[in-house]
Amino acid sequence: MKVLVTGGPGFIGRHTVSHLLEQDCQVIVVDQRKDPKLPEDKSVTYYETDIVSEDLEQIFAVEQPDYCIHLAAHVSVPRSYENPHLDAEINIMGTINVLRACVRYKVRKIVFSSSAAVYGNPDIYPIEEQCALDPQSFYGMSKYVAESYIRSFSTQYNLDYTILRYANVYGIREHRTGEDGVMTAFIERMAGGMPMIIYGDGRQTRDFVYVRDVAVANALALSVGSYQTFNISSGVGLSLLELSGRLQELYEKTNSVQFMPQKPGISIVAF
Ligand SMILES: NC(=O)c1ccc[n+]([C@@H]2O[C@H](COP(=O)([O-])OP(=O)(O)OC[C@H]3O[C@@H](n4cnc5c(N)ncnc54)[C@H](O)[C@@H]3O)[C@@H](O)[C@H]2O)c1
Repeated sequence: MKVLVTGGPGFIGRHTVSHLLEQDCQVIVVDQRKDPKLPEDKSVTYYETDIVSEDLEQIFAVEQPDYCIHLAAHVSVPRSYENPHLDAEINIMGTINVLRACVRYKVRKIVFSSSAAVYGNPDIYPIEEQCALDPQSFYGMSKYVAESYIRSFSTQYNLDYTILRYANVYGIREHRTGEDGVMTAFIERMAGGMPMIIYGDGRQTRDFVYVRDVAVANALALSVGSYQTFNISSGVGLSLLELSGRLQELYEKTNSVQFMPQKPGISIVAF
């Protein structure tokens, strides 16, 4: 089975590629990175390509993948405010480009990495898939629009899909810090003897899901969940104050917590 993974060298991508290799898949990776650091395996073929570019179609033409797991994205909420054009270009136009190639080269199914950011600030928890969508950030908005395009392409061209809305993904090789990667940010600052920074009062909750579980969900969605949308989360909300407390206990450190003003678009609920 040949699976094309966009964003394969990324945090979730590398775990997903490793898991697909364990399942004996042949993996094609498309990413704009020059130095992808993928698992060394003869079943992985790497293309250094921007998903927005016209070259993408040629890759599908040559490789004729059976499935596509679309992970490449402009992934940061704060950066979506700094550069909304780029966020929309990659997350919306890039997704349309991937969808067109999937349809043209008869890909059996696309699995899409959406985000719980599409919900905005719902007042019930745990968040269920039926909850109203009300993205509060440009990033959440671009994921919301990309989801809508996937459903429209599916209706128009009978393209099978599964949309997965991940909560806060954490785990080994996470490279983002700050509000987007709060677990890693806390650990790194603790290790460096610095206070953990919390934006807001720390009572905001997050739902943390382990990256290997997300990789397994990505691979599983190739064979189940046709035309459906699922949350990929733990279903448990943890406040940032609780998280900082637990990490201090675990690492036997007593760093203080530094509070900073809440940033725009950052959700106060569990994801
Ligand atoms: N990490 C999380 O907590 C989280 C939560 C919800 C959703 N997601 C989604 O999961 C997916 C993977 O996230 P991640 O945490 O692994 O991010 P990541 O930044 O580690 O990986 C994203 C990859 O996409 C690539 N990329 C970006 N723009 C590209 C372009 N124009 N063309 C080709 N490649 C491009 C990057 O080079 C990178 O390798 C993303 O779609 C993200 O929005 C992640």
